[in-house]
Amino acid sequence: MEPSNLVPFSSFTVFFYLSIALLSLSSIAVSQTVQENFFQCINQNSELYVPFSSAFVSPNNDSFSSVLQSTAQNLRCLEPSVAKPQLIFTPLIESHVQAAVICAKEVGIQIRMRSGGHDYEGLSYISDLDSPFIIVDLGKLRAISVDIDDNSAWVQAGATIGEVYYRIFQKSKTHGFPAGLCTSLGIGGHITGGAYGTMMRKFGLGADNVLDARIVDAQGRILDRQSMGEDLFWAIRGGGGASFGIILSWKIKLVPVPSIVTVFTVPKTLEQGATKILYKWQQVADKLDEDLFIRVIIQNADAAQKGEKTVQTAYNAQFLGTASRLLEVMNQSFPELGLTQKDCTEMSWIQSVMYIAGYPSKTPPEVLLEGKSLFKNYFKAKSDFVREPIPEDGLEGLWKRLMEGDSPLMIWNPYGGMMSKISESEIPFPHRKGVIFKIQYVTLWQDADKDTAAKHIDWIRKLYNYMATYASTFPREAYVNYRDLDLGVNKDGNTSFIQASVWGSKYFKNNFNRLVRIKNKVDPGNMFRHEQSIPPLALTGKRRGKRMIH
Ligand SMILES: Cc1cc2nc3c(=O)[nH]c(=O)nc-3n(C[C@H](O)[C@H](O)[C@H](O)COP(=O)(O)OP(=O)(O)OC[C@H]3O[C@@H](n4cnc5c(N)ncnc54)[C@H](O)[C@@H]3O)c2cc1C
Ligand SMILES: *[C@@H]1O[C@H](CO)[C@@H](O)[C@H](O)[C@H]1NC(C)=O
Ligand SMILES: *[C@@H]1O[C@H](CO)[C@@H](O)[C@H](O)[C@H]1NC(C)=O
Ligand SMILES: *[C@@H]1O[C@H](CO)[C@@H](O)[C@H](O)[C@H]1NC(C)=O
Repeated sequence: MEPSNLVPFSSFTVFFYLSIALLSLSSIAVSQTVQENFFQCINQNSELYVPFSSAFVSPNNDSFSSVLQSTAQNLRCLEPSVAKPQLIFTPLIESHVQAAVICAKEVGIQIRMRSGGHDYEGLSYISDLDSPFIIVDLGKLRAISVDIDDNSAWVQAGATIGEVYYRIFQKSKTHGFPAGLCTSLGIGGHITGGAYGTMMRKFGLGADNVLDARIVDAQGRILDRQSMGEDLFWAIRGGGGASFGIILSWKIKLVPVPSIVTVFTVPKTLEQGATKILYKWQQVADKLDEDLFIRVIIQNADAAQKGEKTVQTAYNAQFLGTASRLLEVMNQSFPELGLTQKDCTEMSWIQSVMYIAGYPSKTPPEVLLEGKSLFKNYFKAKSDFVREPIPEDGLEGLWKRLMEGDSPLMIWNPYGGMMSKISESEIPFPHRKGVIFKIQYVTLWQDADKDTAAKHIDWIRKLYNYMATYASTFPREAYVNYRDLDLGVNKDGNTSFIQASVWGSKYFKNNFNRLVRIKNKVDPGNMFRHEQSIPPLALTGKRRGKRMIH
């Protein structure tokens, strides 16, 4: 229905519509200037002319939506109501990234940087904080060079972790890298927040296994480990993406993997004693042999009884060894699961990577080179770290809430092993000794309807409140790579130390203070900022803030 049918056509309405028309006209004019200026500036700062069509996509181009959506993993962040970038710039060579930083400053526009697009809140391709903004998409910088003799590889930011695994496998069947389970993660963003996977109990995080990095800083310089210094090199390995600069590439350390790896997935419903088994898992998950990683995937399911709901807990595991040794380990440490030979499948390490990622069996590993994600959803997620086993009555309360939810998903991820041997301040990722497991809460939906989204988000927030009793406290820790804007945001392009400490202490514990000091040193003008970036100390609050963080 037209609004003019509802209200008399008044001068106010005319004024209202005129203003809207003028506003949108002026924003088009502004964006054209921004695009034009940025494009020209890039070419002034590049050795070779970069034609518009080879590296830039503007909202006027037909391909704009498909390029924007290409690697955006959370459909919730692609809604029409969400602000779109003025331009997407896809650097073809490293010096284009330097030019992007220099030109963003010159033109006066904010940058969002994107590698694999898996940010939970879409911060690599949307912005509530700064408008207008452009995306610097690193998707075309994805070279990987593996050096088996040196046990290392250089990987450009735009490569997916699946491509990294494949390139290692191509050169050696007994080398691997301990990072994410989902193979479409971009290594650029992934390692900035920690990067855990099935081998974390033996080798730690991806970020624990980084040897060097190349980064473009706020002044547009390319720095490596030696020229950036140990402070900045520390900060980028776990301090969260997009606060300190644009990572061009990581040098990673390869780890040994056996030629035979064993996997299993054993589901248990409530009727099959899920509560007692999960209670037992909490006693052993972090103490098991370091070759063994058993996570628990929890969902609701239809019960055998028609119309009834149940909860299913699936024990999904990777073991760095043969099935017979695995059965010995399980018999000794976790017989309650009742694992048998026929639950176990032996395979190569790369096949186990694909099994855990959810590829159908027999998928050729070359599919990893496509760098595509297997699925996309609308979703909202949150995280917790658990330091005391959750008692059985706590689990019962949890089941009740899960059964009320609409396609809820929880993943419980065991710690211990190498994770508890690395000190909390070794890198910014602080969730180490004493953590039994991490919980990831996810709620998924499949359509753009606003009410559906609101219902799901409300449900997951309530679940998170319920779990406060069982989660870590002071602070209630959270994983920065599971970015959650419910924990707080920087307001109006301003970042305050006090405000940011609320989520900063959850993500980084005491390491937050050091991150702020480093930010102050390397990016005092706050060039690299977003809703949850590390703040430099604000000029006005400088003295007070300084005293506070020592
Ligand atoms: C389906 C799914 C599965 C996941 N599984 C795991 C898992 O198994 N283990 C795990 O640890 N995490 C996992 N994650 C979380 C994942 O590690 C983070 O979302 C990570 O930040 C993704 O990196 P990206 O490059 O793909 O994302 P992006 O969205 O491109 O980037 C994430 C953040 O880093 C910034 N950033 C991107 N590129 C750069 C760069 N080159 N330099 C500096 N900053 C940059 C972005 O601006 C953004 O703030 C998963 C996420 C999803 C959606
Ligand atoms: C995008 O539009 C510009 C003109 O506005 C054009 O020069 C360019 O070739 C287009 N790019 C693509 C990828 O279509
Ligand atoms: C499990 O261990 C017990 C002793 O602890 C042993 O008697 C039994 O044979 C073992 N079972 C298997 C399948 O290894
Ligand atoms: C930041 O805060 C100051 C006052 O505290 C305000 O004037 C300014 O508009 C805010 N936003 C930005 C982007 O600086």
